[in-house]
Amino acid sequence: MKRWMSLLLVLMLCLCLAACGSKGKSLEDVQKAGKLVVATSPDFPPFEYLDGDQVVGIEVEIMQMVADELGVTLEIKQMDFDSVLPGVQAGKYDVGMSGITINAKRQKNADFTQPYFLASQAIVVKSDSDITCKADLEGKKVSVQTGTTAEEYCMENGYQVSAFQANNDACSALLSGKVDAWVVDNEVALDLSAQTDGATKVLDEAMTSEPYGFAFAKGSDSLVAEIDKMLDKWLADGTIEALFEKYEVPFVSPKG
Ligand code: ARG
Repeated sequence: MKRWMSLLLVLMLCLCLAACGSKGKSLEDVQKAGKLVVATSPDFPPFEYLDGDQVVGIEVEIMQMVADELGVTLEIKQMDFDSVLPGVQAGKYDVGMSGITINAKRQKNADFTQPYFLASQAIVVKSDSDITCKADLEGKKVSVQTGTTAEEYCMENGYQVSAFQANNDACSALLSGKVDAWVVDNEVALDLSAQTDGATKVLDEAMTSEPYGFAFAKGSDSLVAEIDKMLDKWLADGTIEALFEKYEVPFVSPKG
């Protein structure tokens, strides 16, 4: 009898710990709070970037629509990319919005919506560079943003990687000749390279497949399910595609 009692006690303690351990918010939690707190690294045009001190971009517009549907206000917190996922996982923010690639490794520690867009990694080089494809990167110095899939990809491929917390610094490293190439997500590569006044070019080789979605702490099931329903609708009725058109970015469906 005594043994059963202590077993029950241990079981109850475990259940309680599991419940307290979940950092995720429910749909109800967010609606009660009246706000959706979003973590972002706004150095990633056209998805999120600064216009003066305003964070704008494709993902900001999607997240504003989400907040409107939920009937809450959108509260945007800015940080470096490598703080977004850890902050979300720790329950400091409700959502991670940063052109985040959904992959199996990240899914172990965070919940994700369905993907809404399919990107890839691209190579940016100086306009006069003789690097023309991925194979030419062998043994070369490459800049990336810290904590990104670009960093992981370049490390795995054995390039000499210089990682920078801000995307712009990864670009500057290329411009100043500290590295031979900069690896970054394709649409961001095109956008930022166009801002270098012809000093750089983006190579025409998609190196990876990067489905973008929004990240949440584990245990955010009802919130994620609700946002997935919205994405279902906006992907089907052309809302998301129209948003990409507005930013003059070709829409690539995550559904192939
Ligand atoms: N898609 C890449 C990743 O998830 C890069 C994201 C970088 N995002 C940013 N806002 N700087 O790792």
